[in-house]
Amino acid sequence: VNRDRRAAWYDGEVDGRFAGSGPAIVGVGAIGGVVAACLYDRRPRLCVRRGFERLEIRLDGRTRRFEGLSLVSSPEAISTAHEIVFVATKAHQTEGAASWLSHLVGPGTIVVVLQNGVEHRERVAPWVDTQACILPAVVDLPATCAAPGQVTLKRSGTLVLPPVAEAARVVALFEGAPWIRASMEEDFAGVMWRKLCVNVVSGAIPALTDRPAGVFRDEAVAKLARGLVRECMAVARAEGVALPADLDRSIVAEFAASPPQSENAMLLDRRAGRRLEADARNGAVARFGARHGIPTPLNAMAAALLGAINA
Ligand SMILES: NC(=O)c1ccc[n+]([C@@H]2O[C@H](COP(=O)([O-])OP(=O)(O)OC[C@H]3O[C@@H](n4cnc5c(N)ncnc54)[C@H](OP(=O)(O)O)[C@@H]3O)[C@@H](O)[C@H]2O)c1
Repeated sequence: VNRDRRAAWYDGEVDGRFAGSGPAIVGVGAIGGVVAACLYDRRPRLCVRRGFERLEIRLDGRTRRFEGLSLVSSPEAISTAHEIVFVATKAHQTEGAASWLSHLVGPGTIVVVLQNGVEHRERVAPWVDTQACILPAVVDLPATCAAPGQVTLKRSGTLVLPPVAEAARVVALFEGAPWIRASMEEDFAGVMWRKLCVNVVSGAIPALTDRPAGVFRDEAVAKLARGLVRECMAVARAEGVALPADLDRSIVAEFAASPPQSENAMLLDRRAGRRLEADARNGAVARFGARHGIPTPLNAMAAALLGAINA
């Protein structure tokens, strides 16, 4: 989407139903916080359950501060539907955010689901207007949120959307933004399933063993990890997605080569006693496997054990 198109959109193509409503973000943690900072000039409405004075984004020892934010803490305070709504809660928190969605989303609203997994639409659809456009997004942006408004980034990242007209509007919003490069991808399903192939091991194995990335250097663990990825690959192929034959090896080799003390978000969640986002990852592989008659015993076991930790 080039600059001219962006200018055209902002000058003349704003949908009249949403005049004056900037983007809204539901769930302003690690990912929602970076999106809020990237869209700061558009005065996004930040829908939070815990308030904060300012937003701080840290990267490479430098901090950028964003003040004068438009925070809202009660869904009832929202009187009109918004044109673009980002959902950046964890997957299992979507239902808890339902009342935000019912107030923010109307016919024609673009709902961008910034969550891991492959079931973005199924997760959000029950809570939004049937004429809203739900866009799944694949986010590659390693970030942590230590406290409300306090986000640390490991590096800049990407936000990938399916190739549809509504996604072009979202991509235009991020033009010139720091930290996030947004784009549309023809093979969106491929991007989404490759990310799930990574996510079935990146979180489950450190969280189940309570060990950082060094755990992947243990060959018995690496073998199990490749098995988890291969199950996800088989299910993805049944969904019509083309994947490299050695994806399992390359994913696990990359984790084994990463700094051994590097801590994944799910490991940090486990250590902090927060609920783990297991069902949207390993649980999804088991669900799709059952649908296609593909056995997924390793992912089913991982989902069950992580679910038991949650319980
Ligand atoms: N972090 C990463 O590096 C990364 C990378 C790629 C993809 N993702 C995916 O992005 C999604 C978001 O992850 P995250 O790391 O940003 O999670 P996070 O830091 O835990 O942020 C989630 C935010 O949602 C808020 N929230 C939950 N329920 C809410 C409700 N009912 N109303 C208002 N706010 C609510 C939480 O508020 P409280 O603070 O009050 O709990 C929190 O601020 C996940 O699906 C994750 O897998 C994350």
